[in-house]
Amino acid sequence: MKNKIIPKTPKWKLYHKLINNEVVYDNKSLSRYKKLNTNQSIDSKLSKLKKLREKISKVKNCELKKNANNLVFSDGNPSSKIMIIGEGPGANEDKEGKPFVGRAGKLLDKMLEAIKLNRNNVYISNVVNFRPPMNRKPSEDEVARYLPFLKEHIEIISPKILLLLGSTSLNAIVGSEVVISKARGKWTKKKFGNKDVDVIASFHPAFLMRQPDQKKYAWEDLKMIRKKIGELKIKINAK
Ligand code: URA
Repeated sequence: MKNKIIPKTPKWKLYHKLINNEVVYDNKSLSRYKKLNTNQSIDSKLSKLKKLREKISKVKNCELKKNANNLVFSDGNPSSKIMIIGEGPGANEDKEGKPFVGRAGKLLDKMLEAIKLNRNNVYISNVVNFRPPMNRKPSEDEVARYLPFLKEHIEIISPKILLLLGSTSLNAIVGSEVVISKARGKWTKKKFGNKDVDVIASFHPAFLMRQPDQKKYAWEDLKMIRKKIGELKIKINAK
């Protein structure tokens, strides 16, 4: 005669019997935490970005703003986990109100394409949001004035990877003691709000146009970014 298999009482039942609890099994799991629905979180991000843009547009007594035609806020995908920071708008950007649309922008697009990225899956902004007259570098005071906006911008976007293009961006975010030729191609972590962000600097595309022999280093940095995207399991939409 075959042995009858007596099902083992599950441990959770034994436990509840022990503490005299009457329990019934319910197939549904308890969900105490509701995940913020993606549409809700993108809506709140967009409204925060709108408010930030308004705040910047109200800046008073600023040489940059006085001479500029447009506020240049950002381009790309606000849901992206990869944020890129340039220096400041040039003539084309000032005209169109969008960052990196001129010659340096075309090179940036090629650099992104080399690691299978584009403006649909990265988010781009600058240290200052108005064009410095005659394309000069923004002064230390100007950088200091716009830095709180930039930090807020980064907190809203909440990227996992932050790419700083050129020395203005590097010095604004990492500190004035570092030089781009030494600091590029190295990962550091920086806190924005309560989030740790992986930060890397590379040469600015405008510099690479003047010094094409330096492109090989930019390529090394781009490959590091591609690798980090894989390590952090960042999903890239393929559009
Ligand atoms: N250079 C920058 O740093 N930013 C731009 O938007 C364009 C050129």
